[in-house]
Amino acid sequence: MNPTAQVAASLFSELTGASPDSIWSAPGRANLIGEHTDYNEGFVLPFAIEHRTYAAVGRRDDGIIRVASTFDPNPVEVAIVELSALFGGAAGEAVQAGSVPEWAAYPLGVAWAALARVPNSAVTGVDIAIASDVPIGAGLSSSAAIEGATAAALDELWSLDLSLLDMAKIGRTAENQAVGAPTGIMDQVSSIMGEYDAATFLDCRSYETQPVDLGFAREHLSVLVIDTKVKHSHSTGGYGERRASCELGARTLGVSALRDVTVADLERAKTLLDDVTFRRVAHVVTENQRVLDTVDTLRAEGPRAIGGLLVASHVSMRDDFEISVPELDTAVSAALDAGAVGARMTGGGFGGAAIAVVEVDKLDDTKAAVADAFDRAGFVEPHQFTVTPSHGVLRDA
Ligand code: GLA
Repeated sequence: MNPTAQVAASLFSELTGASPDSIWSAPGRANLIGEHTDYNEGFVLPFAIEHRTYAAVGRRDDGIIRVASTFDPNPVEVAIVELSALFGGAAGEAVQAGSVPEWAAYPLGVAWAALARVPNSAVTGVDIAIASDVPIGAGLSSSAAIEGATAAALDELWSLDLSLLDMAKIGRTAENQAVGAPTGIMDQVSSIMGEYDAATFLDCRSYETQPVDLGFAREHLSVLVIDTKVKHSHSTGGYGERRASCELGARTLGVSALRDVTVADLERAKTLLDDVTFRRVAHVVTENQRVLDTVDTLRAEGPRAIGGLLVASHVSMRDDFEISVPELDTAVSAALDAGAVGARMTGGGFGGAAIAVVEVDKLDDTKAAVADAFDRAGFVEPHQFTVTPSHGVLRDA
């Protein structure tokens, strides 16, 4: 058994004195391209990574849900009938009031959202033990990994008969309502539906998905993650502000979502929007086009041809959406100077990680060049590791 799955199983046994009924896991994700487009009903192209979160679960014969994790020595216990009182109010209210610690709001929020989606389910109590090797706070969706593993485990245990898309929607509801982070659905879909050496092309309006072959393995390319260690949180601050700017832009332009604005419309948009709102809109509109272009380019020419699109995406986030930080810019330029095919920050921004698509035989030199650039800039040494596009949710035991 995978060592992290083993940790979840042992934690479960410590908690209950018994073995789990099952262990489910879901991965973190890196986004190849398509940033802040998901909540604008646009396009994204993320891929699941091999780092995973494991949920070991077992039935209880009462109405209690208890969660334990390696994040916190104290398990959290709630009566299932109390979940809606806990999370049913305004987004994030209960958690902000400190009623459960934030880590526990992810699995408990999933349980609440699943029961709201399948009302009248006759459910039993449940114990859940969670262990993860997805780096936390690196912009690799450690939260979606908890949500996916929990949703899949509860789906089976409670016989909910959820589709993979239902599970992703439940994860997003937990994140939006129970945790209070106003995120889109990219991370959950990517985590749950990932496939080996492929990215998930998702239309965030229709929820249609298509796996897109990345060909990294075939082309001897690797994805280097450069975790800047600059911590970010999407339940506070900048993320919500960017979302509000996009909504203002859409309202002013008379569309229901920025998905409906094209690159050709930008000239007119510039005359109608204030400078900041225009630049936010310009990022989203051009980023949607870059996702479509990346999918076409991958299919027609393969992964070595997408570098320019990745770099343009980074520049747009740095200059127009203004969600990069100096550490991310340094990571991207150092990787490119060392010969990377392409590089960009990934995830919601304000910290977290950049990704660089690098020739396998240039990996060591690229890492050294990035570390050196951080050192010269006086930044904390980044954590650098490679990720492989991997499979989505799985039953491990
Ligand atoms: C975070 C959110 C996603 C998405 C990205 C930005 O990861 O969880 O829904 O909005 O930021 O692309």
